[in-house]
Amino acid sequence: MKRIFVLLYLLSLFVFASSAQEWIVPAENGAKLSPFAFTDSTRKAGSDLYNLNCKSCHGDPGKNNPVKLVPPPPDPASEKMQKNSDGAFFYKVAEGRGLMPSFKNTLSAADTWKIISYFRGFNDKYVQEVAKKPAPGVSLEQAIMMLTWENEKKQVKVEVTSLKEGTRQPVAGAELKLFAKRYFGNLQVGEARSTDSQGIALFNFPETLPGDSTGMVQILVKPTDENAFGEVNTMASMKIGIPTYRPPLNEQRALWNVNRKTPIWLLSTYIFSVLAVWALIVYVMLQLRLLFKSGEENNPE
Ligand code: HEC
Repeated sequence: MKRIFVLLYLLSLFVFASSAQEWIVPAENGAKLSPFAFTDSTRKAGSDLYNLNCKSCHGDPGKNNPVKLVPPPPDPASEKMQKNSDGAFFYKVAEGRGLMPSFKNTLSAADTWKIISYFRGFNDKYVQEVAKKPAPGVSLEQAIMMLTWENEKKQVKVEVTSLKEGTRQPVAGAELKLFAKRYFGNLQVGEARSTDSQGIALFNFPETLPGDSTGMVQILVKPTDENAFGEVNTMASMKIGIPTYRPPLNEQRALWNVNRKTPIWLLSTYIFSVLAVWALIVYVMLQLRLLFKSGEENNPE
């Protein structure tokens, strides 16, 4: 009986350890390719982005000096890293896992590809395959997105047109996502929507979303698949949120505030301590004087 338990325990440890190591990437994500060719300039840009966002954990590529975490952040030049397909890299950086943060709301797709191009610079055997350009007509490269608020239906209307042969024409079939800008990152609002034959996509907007003190919300629209459509995005401010007053951090008395706005408890503790020390000093002086006096009275010479 005991042996079976030990065996089961060892087995579960093994399963746990191996599952903890393997990071499974869905096949369609793993097959994703960069929309642009990796060049010296993308590698340079990638290296700057890496130093800013990743180096603190992953260390200097090729030096194997990551910060001590479990599991350790692999060295970008290592075989473990270079084994990833370009798409797998993209997926892992975007999604994150455990201590590896998700960067999908911090880095644009293009910036993520630039970091990957920097990583590939440490691999002599790597030969890049660039994604095929999408069929003409669906590219959003030259597109303009117009955002308007449909008050009756409480919807954000996005109208996408693109310049073709000198005239603006609707772009149909482009899948878009809508975000509301928050303090940290962007909050996706609702599901992704595709534009119809008139190039229009409608997004329901929750009535409970807080805005700034006047109810303004910053809206951001971008294509779901930036690889296929190119990197376009459009921002607009709309008065569609609930007015929310957020007091500035230095408005109330707080430890981090200026002297004039010291917390009451700190001020009173301070004054009380100073008074107590002075009282003690005065008390000691008085006692010394009494001692001196009584000495004088007992030895009158
Ligand atoms: C807070 C520390 C931290 C930061 C910052 C960080 N990483 Fe990571 N990264 C990790 C850890 C820890 C792992 C291992 C995660 C795992 O295997 O569960 C990891 C794993 C990875 C992997 C997967 C490696 C594999 O096993 O295939 C990639 C790719 C990666 N990081 C890229 C990046 C990039 C690019 C950046 C910057 C944009 C970055 N990381 C920033 C900690 C970090």
